[in-house]
Amino acid sequence: MENTFAQDVLKGLSAKDKYLSSMYFYDDNGSRIFREIMNMPEYYLTDAEFEILSMQSKQIYEALNFSGPFNIVELGAGDGFKTFKLLEYLVTNNIDVHYIPIDISQEAIDMLTKNLNQRLPNLKIHPRVGDYFEILKDNRVSEYPSLLLFLGGNIGNYLEDKAKELLRLVNRNMKLGDKLLIGIDIKKNPIVIQNAYFDNHGITKRFNLNLLLRINRELDADFKIDDYDFYCHYNPITGNVNSYIVSLRKQTVELKALNKSITFDYNELIWTELSKKYSLEEIEKLAVASSFKLTTNFLDCKHYFADSLWEK
Ligand code: AVJ
Repeated sequence: MENTFAQDVLKGLSAKDKYLSSMYFYDDNGSRIFREIMNMPEYYLTDAEFEILSMQSKQIYEALNFSGPFNIVELGAGDGFKTFKLLEYLVTNNIDVHYIPIDISQEAIDMLTKNLNQRLPNLKIHPRVGDYFEILKDNRVSEYPSLLLFLGGNIGNYLEDKAKELLRLVNRNMKLGDKLLIGIDIKKNPIVIQNAYFDNHGITKRFNLNLLLRINRELDADFKIDDYDFYCHYNPITGNVNSYIVSLRKQTVELKALNKSITFDYNELIWTELSKKYSLEEIEKLAVASSFKLTTNFLDCKHYFADSLWEK
């Protein structure tokens, strides 16, 4: 079947406990709203990771222990803003690196490539558009070792078993001695986390409700978004931030493109996202469970976020 968005939406909204995948947040509007989130002072993740890559590039490079040329393969490069600091360090120090950014968005890859060509004209860039794992398979035939980057804390969107499955798949597509630098958000004062996700500017609410607007547009539906609210909750024991859309009335929505209607009870929820936080011990366990050895955790000065370096 061609339209997996339609299938996934129908499946999620027909379930007893309704859900939608956070992966569908990122249409053009959603990506724009996500950039607003990253600019909020409360959303500490971006700043913390930027600090790590700005201040500790040298330490990260040394911990790789690569003696000659190597590849940097970035999964979901996006606008590559944070990675720039690491690349800048390497190019400035005449380290022979081939940068292979991978993203599903051609537009993002084009912007990134243009920007890097201007700012780091000596960097060798081999941009790729498409599926991570297809492209990672080519990486195994490279004569050089590789550093894989999976930044931003995206692993937090996966339930623990799915996260392990994904990381094992990444592992299987790496060569012995290759490294993975993975961004993981750390458990911390619950109020700091709550404020980052339940912001009082209403930006994260807009980010969530944009998914209903996307369904309206792409599946010819009639969600009235004023009839929905946003709620999210951090559980400091499990480390899970769960996000929801709340139906403010009993109502029926038509998905005209699918010829289906969905009814909502008063206060019924749609689960939209998991953003899981890990302790340092849990990061170590995650590495081991997905067949990696943890080399070093690089933390920001507040110890809010980890770029964790793993070896196959
Ligand atoms: C892009 C998945 C890391 O879970 O923190 C931000 C997305 N959701 N605010 C996260 C998000 C609500 C973000 N990730």
